[in-house]
Amino acid sequence: MTIPAYKNPALTVSERIEDLLGRMTLKEKAGQLNQWFNLGPEHYDMVRKGEIGSDLLAGSPTAGNSPQERIFARRYNEVQKIAVTESRLGIPLIFGRDVIHGYRTVAPIPLGMAAAWSPELVQAANTIAAREARADGVHWAFSPMLDIARDPRWGRVAEGFGEDPFLAGKLAAAAVRGFQGNDQDAIPERFPVDRVVACAKHFVGYGAAEGGRDYNTTEITRQTLHNVYLATFKAAIQSGCGTVMSAFHDIGGIPLSAHRYLLTEVLKEQWGFGGFVVSDWGAVWELTNHGIAADAGHAAELGCGAGVDMDMCSMVYLNNLPDLVQSGKFSEERLDDAVRRVLRIKFALGLFESPYVDADASHAVHLLPESLAVMRRLAADSMVLLKNNGVLPLRADHLTICLGGPLADRRKELFGCWTIDGRDEEVTTLKEAITGRLGAETRLHHYELVDDAVKLARASDVMILAIGESEGRSGEDNCTTTIDLPAGQEALVESARRMAIPIVAVVFGGRPLNLTRVMDWADAVLFAWHPGITGGLGVTDILFGDVNPSGRLPITFPRSTGQIPLYYNHRSTGRPLPRNSRRHSRYIDALDSPLFPFGFGLSYTTFTYGNLCATADPQIPEIVVTAQVTNTGDRAGTTVAQCYVRDVVASVARPVRELKGFERVFLEAGQSKTILFRLGPQEVSYLDDNGHEVLEPGRFQVWVGGDSNADLGADFEITPDGRWGVIDKGE
Ligand code: NOJ
Repeated sequence: MTIPAYKNPALTVSERIEDLLGRMTLKEKAGQLNQWFNLGPEHYDMVRKGEIGSDLLAGSPTAGNSPQERIFARRYNEVQKIAVTESRLGIPLIFGRDVIHGYRTVAPIPLGMAAAWSPELVQAANTIAAREARADGVHWAFSPMLDIARDPRWGRVAEGFGEDPFLAGKLAAAAVRGFQGNDQDAIPERFPVDRVVACAKHFVGYGAAEGGRDYNTTEITRQTLHNVYLATFKAAIQSGCGTVMSAFHDIGGIPLSAHRYLLTEVLKEQWGFGGFVVSDWGAVWELTNHGIAADAGHAAELGCGAGVDMDMCSMVYLNNLPDLVQSGKFSEERLDDAVRRVLRIKFALGLFESPYVDADASHAVHLLPESLAVMRRLAADSMVLLKNNGVLPLRADHLTICLGGPLADRRKELFGCWTIDGRDEEVTTLKEAITGRLGAETRLHHYELVDDAVKLARASDVMILAIGESEGRSGEDNCTTTIDLPAGQEALVESARRMAIPIVAVVFGGRPLNLTRVMDWADAVLFAWHPGITGGLGVTDILFGDVNPSGRLPITFPRSTGQIPLYYNHRSTGRPLPRNSRRHSRYIDALDSPLFPFGFGLSYTTFTYGNLCATADPQIPEIVVTAQVTNTGDRAGTTVAQCYVRDVVASVARPVRELKGFERVFLEAGQSKTILFRLGPQEVSYLDDNGHEVLEPGRFQVWVGGDSNADLGADFEITPDGRWGVIDKGE
């Protein structure tokens, strides 16, 4: 018996797709665009009829808020078998899951990962996550989240890579490669068998939710969309990301799940995205709530017409698209385009050849020692030392340590949001990690009760206070009106201060927190984010000096909630600083500056930057900037050298500075190294309202240093006839 062409792996993917498409009924086509969740026996009839194309492996839209909804590989094989052997065409289902930061070997939250400024580590962490997830039967990770966020009240700030499109763009590309294993910058013909397809979400501008309130409306200009919010998605697409998720919110009245300009004109036409777009959960149906669709049928027409290929969990495509096409109200061509896109990814994942998972295979890849080691390294490298008056690193011996604070001996609190596959019992708490690291002569007192801990402090040499947010205070649907520490924590630090022993505050959190007072009272402050399964160990690696801190803030830390939004790459205004002027853009009851700027972080050693030199070769459109970075302290360490640029005069006001290069630099004590950044058209141009690159002649400034306040700089220009030259070459 001859097999149908679409089942023949010797043919090209497009030949197989066309053959299959030609055999499909309208209902089967709509079925491929229909994702439902937690498929069980009650759905098997629909699967048999080819009415479901994808299973979302979760019991609710906010599964990350209800951790440990376990994966059941055997159950997926059962439903897959029905799709493959009992449906007319045997098209396999694609199983999607929220694999947000690690899988069972839970990584630090993405905002923490970003603080390591290491695309290599992000790629390594996502490779581990992909292998673990695929072994459990997951084909598709709803990650990375690429929403630039400038408002830390928004709970989902934890899930993204921070406020800067350049850093987040580099990490986006690394995250995609880690998940998908593609070495080409394109969606592969075949994904490696141990990887998953990535999903860049939430397209686009979701992080600009008004008031930091989840799902809220946004107003974003085209200028800001193209230069800030779209940039991370573009980086992911250029790295071959296979799928994109359209967001819940609207921009200026157009919900993103019906935004034809962004989904079709920009994403698919301008950028050439060849994968498929899935809506966020119920977002197509929610077009009726937004008030732009009269009913479910209208919503399906708007969503699919705008470019959303797959409907996540609202059934409106399945129930409406076939009739709409039949009656001539919706184009079959567009329906076919959406189906082709979905099938392309299914073929690329090899699902037609290998639809099932070995239900016992996960043991071989979950929680491997080498995976735990990567996550521990990432956790330690993500932590940002915000203050240290010399109390850190702790000496392992001759110490009596008092450990207190609400998060000192907690497990799932270290995971952070969206860790449905992490298991509490596999986390090392901070107390356990410290106990394991102590020298023979060290004693540890741990008390959860504030008063007891404070009393005990009298008999100790140092007090470590583990404070901050638990995992449930950030993530989806977990927004706050304030970035202040949870109730009682400032008082705890203040009363500990009265004991007159050194205080080390270890702060866990899913967002920048207001640490203004803690800065005054603590002798050292380490911001540890939500550091994942090895988080306790990562903290002790830093506290005891086994790892010299190198994390740098991927987002500005304001002094108070009232300063929000506060971000380093803002425009200048007509009344900018200097600070002594009365009429610049400011408040009268607070300082202008943030508590900590973007890019900031201390080390146990010190670094200086000098000898900046900018050079140009008139034949080449490029400025080369070199600088010398020196470790001026007495121990080896890593700094993150950062390069910022300003376009001084342009047709539109450009940001006061923008990150355009960074490099983690390891230096032995006393060692110097020359670092080099290349600034070409991509680094000095911006995008116009249509997303087209604009490279204008004029003056530019460049700075190199250890954070976004770097002041070691040079000036260069592009002349009207297009020559690149240096005006002031620096030091
Ligand atoms: C809703 C969330 O917004 C999205 O990030 C997630 O991937 C889906 N639910 C699926 O769980």
